[in-house]
Amino acid sequence: SNVITLDPGYKNTGSCESAITFLDGEKGVLRYRGYAIEDLAEKASFLEVCYLLIFGELPTKEQLSKFHKDIKEQSIVDEDMKRILDGFPKSAHPMGVLASLTNALVAFNPSSVNVDSEEDMYKAIVKILGKFPVLVAWTMRKKMSLPLNYGDTSLGYIENIHKMMFQKPNEEYKVDRAVIEALDKLLILHADHEQNCSTSTVRIVGSSHSGLFASLSAGIAALWGPLHGGANQAVIEMLEAIKADGGDTSKYILKAKDKDDSFRLMGFGHRVYKNFDPRARIIKKAADEVLGELGIEDPVLDIAKGLEKVALEDEYFKSRNLYPNVDFYSGIIYRALGIPTDMFTVMFALGRLPGWIAQWKEMRLRKEPIGRPRQVYTGYTLRSFKTMSDR
Ligand code: CMC
Repeated sequence: SNVITLDPGYKNTGSCESAITFLDGEKGVLRYRGYAIEDLAEKASFLEVCYLLIFGELPTKEQLSKFHKDIKEQSIVDEDMKRILDGFPKSAHPMGVLASLTNALVAFNPSSVNVDSEEDMYKAIVKILGKFPVLVAWTMRKKMSLPLNYGDTSLGYIENIHKMMFQKPNEEYKVDRAVIEALDKLLILHADHEQNCSTSTVRIVGSSHSGLFASLSAGIAALWGPLHGGANQAVIEMLEAIKADGGDTSKYILKAKDKDDSFRLMGFGHRVYKNFDPRARIIKKAADEVLGELGIEDPVLDIAKGLEKVALEDEYFKSRNLYPNVDFYSGIIYRALGIPTDMFTVMFALGRLPGWIAQWKEMRLRKEPIGRPRQVYTGYTLRSFKTMSDR
């Protein structure tokens, strides 16, 4: 119709029906397929959560082992992809590299675009779940000047990812169980979040029937920004800046409240959560545990806690319902695990992968129409053309 409802930022517009993730922003509730995030973070593995999000049910032992086997069979990336990676400057941001490599995968796996049957869809899904961790590991290894490698299919999904990322040449690979458990938990907490910016991007790009990998590449680009996934990197940079500045948190609170200053308290606020972000609560506790188990003391954790305390008591933040979000404490854990700061958002992408896949699959199976928002035009009415000499 010609009656257009204007809703910048889609604050009140539902773009789809979905049976994947339930979120109650007032009560701070998050559930994947009906299961509480608290239970999943505590009791499930990331691969189980991948299966749950994508197929709708928790897997049986047999289903999970078949799923894992199918993924492992797809964990080799075309050798020519290394030449593409090689072409990037070492200074390139890992998110740009990851988005490019994910899109480049289409060229080497053209059949992944054909998803006319659920069987074809399944093939594309296990392919990306196999190859994406390799791209993540390679992106980091390039930064760290480590030789590119492949996975170890004898390991669990997360342990294999960790090994691919961290194994040093001529060194025996060893990892603390606490590290794998922390990684598993963090990725579960990031696995889906209904129609956020990157997920909406994946659905809308996919709605033109671009393939899964191209849609995911667009989702990675959307996640990159500091108002979305990029906040996890921005939080640590902010905390470091506060530390270097003598640790005066109230000065930064003042800056964040100043409407003439573009500075925002990174890792604070959320479009939907207006009470608290349940993921942040779990991550804050996990940060204490992981640092304790690994015997790490990070002064930045104390700055974060101090900042949170001051903000929660401040009228500006209280009246606007601004609370720490998932990104506020996650970076402190990533750092404790030895992950470089500019790789944090890549880790978010790794965690969000199953959510993006599940949402894309749902969109295709429901045969949703092409996404095409309308606008309210505010430009000129008809003008008569002026030749160059008259301008
Ligand atoms: N610091 C200071 N003021 C803030 C902040 C903040 N972090 N967040 C919101 N506000 C203020 C904002 O200025 C506005 O004030 P006023 O009513 O006086 O104009 C009010 O709170 C409402 O904010 P909004 O920008 O209209 O809210 P939004 O729903 O459009 O934005 C947000 C949500 C997450 C983009 C925003 O809170 C923000 O920029 N936060 C910092 C970045 C961040 O942590 N992002 C991660 C989000 S969670 C996980 C993820 O998606 O990756």
